[in-house]
Amino acid sequence: MRGVDFEVTAVHASETFELRRAVLRPFEDAASIALEDDDRPGTGTFAAISSSGAVVGAARVAPAPPPFSTEALTSDDSGGRRSASWRLRGMATREDARNLGIGTAVLARVVQHVAEHGGGLLWCNARVPAVAFYRRAGFVEHGDPWGEPRIGPHVVMWRIVWGDDAAAY
Ligand SMILES: CC(C)(COP(=O)(O)OP(=O)(O)OC[C@H]1O[C@@H](n2cnc3c(N)ncnc32)[C@H](O)[C@@H]1OP(=O)(O)O)[C@@H](O)C(=O)NCCC(=O)NCCS
Repeated sequence: MRGVDFEVTAVHASETFELRRAVLRPFEDAASIALEDDDRPGTGTFAAISSSGAVVGAARVAPAPPPFSTEALTSDDSGGRRSASWRLRGMATREDARNLGIGTAVLARVVQHVAEHGGGLLWCNARVPAVAFYRRAGFVEHGDPWGEPRIGPHVVMWRIVWGDDAAAY
């Protein structure tokens, strides 16, 4: 798949389940792909839709505390937003549509969602092969990697999103 036209848009989480399952959890069935907070207020699910209408990329973000203390962040680092934190999950691009900027565009839309909701600390359990992808988007690693059964090594990554980042996108 080369030179694909796509548009990133907000969707209902269910529109991304098949891509989530195929890319991230192929050993599970579609019924177990929904996340507990998919439909909660504040959660944003975004998809890259190709010109033929296929979901080629997706991610979702929801309010959730990070798995580490934010006390160590100075007010300068956190922008005084220690109380607001967001978890990115379900970041996936269809295998035949990778390296075309789709993941970067979907992640930028996630950052925009957080910015539009006042900003805060954005974190994820990153798959180690995706660390460079997240670093380019301003994330840094926290702590040591660990192995996730059937999936592989992960590491926590995070960044601060400022409330006015929305103006930059
Ligand atoms: C991680 C993932 C979502 C990235 O999606 P993507 O659509 O390929 O992302 P991008 O195209 O924006 O960027 C990926 C790479 O392409 C390069 N790239 C970006 N835009 C490009 C373009 N227009 N042309 C060529 N290359 C480009 C980037 O430099 C990047 O390089 P990297 O391999 O060092 O990371 C995707 O690889 C994926 O779904 N992986 C499997 C699931 C996974 O690990 N998800 C993350 C869970 S934490």
